[in-house]
Amino acid sequence: MSDRSYLSNSYKNILVSETENPGALSTVLITINRPDAMNALNIELMGEVAAVLTAADKDDKAGCSVITGSDKAFAAGADIKEMADADSVQIYIREMFASWDVIRLVKKPVIAAVSGYALGGGCELAMLCDMIVASESAKFGQPEVNLGVIPGAGGTQRLTRAVGKARAMEIILTGRMVTSAEMYEAGLVAKVSADDKYLEDALAIAKSICGKPSIAVRLAKESILKAFDTTVEAGIEFERKNFYFLFSTEDKKEGMQAFVEKRKPGWKHR
Ligand code: CAA
Repeated sequence: MSDRSYLSNSYKNILVSETENPGALSTVLITINRPDAMNALNIELMGEVAAVLTAADKDDKAGCSVITGSDKAFAAGADIKEMADADSVQIYIREMFASWDVIRLVKKPVIAAVSGYALGGGCELAMLCDMIVASESAKFGQPEVNLGVIPGAGGTQRLTRAVGKARAMEIILTGRMVTSAEMYEAGLVAKVSADDKYLEDALAIAKSICGKPSIAVRLAKESILKAFDTTVEAGIEFERKNFYFLFSTEDKKEGMQAFVEKRKPGWKHR
């Protein structure tokens, strides 16, 4: 039995709930909840998000997580007030990105449901997720240059890989806000939804993923992420080994047998 106490909502900066998907695994919904600070991401908050995602990874009933904020702000960045007085040594010793590194290694899919501001660390958290569903009025940006710094949670790398060098240069060097329509066209955003439907649409994608065999989903995620840090040849080798590995799962037998027998598969997630 998995430990499900992480769903108990004992957090200071986030709300956690489970959305049950009948006949499928559940979705874990994490809502960033610092309304007085535009959902700025302090170290404690990121620790809570990392703890929930890590626990969801170990929860047999959870298939996918969604991170959202409020209609006004997904997150307006790392907490500037927490960083304002720090010097280089203090910020280095503080290891403010430790939880970000934990989230990077989460195995089950994570979807960002973005509305309002996704700036600085907020944009970087959305990019750390596996896909972004954004409301029509969402605003993305990496405004760190206006504070005398640069993106520190992967923005220069992930934005560049998603939208290309020219556009990443223009966005990061000017620090301007970017609409969800532009980010969709540039390839950063998977889906743009009406302002009152972005969360519903993200949950619908999560539900669809929760209905798939989870080992295949996890290895598909791992293989896609490999594309970001290896050669095509090494990535294809990695993909092929995962493909071969899946042939020893019960779900592979069930999936192919169900197709042949023209029936719906019953997944065991093994
Ligand atoms: N950190 C800490 N507090 C923040 C914050 C942040 N990133 N963003 C907003 N807040 C706080 C404001 O200080 C304000 O608090 P008070 O009421 O106590 O004054 C409250 O949230 C509401 O914000 P505003 O009054 O500024 O709201 P607005 O509607 O006028 O403007 C905004 C909204 C355009 C998002 C503006 O708040 C803003 O520009 N925020 C900062 C954006 C930013 O620079 N982000 C990058 C942070 S650095 C970073 O993220 C580094 C990294 O790569 C990891």
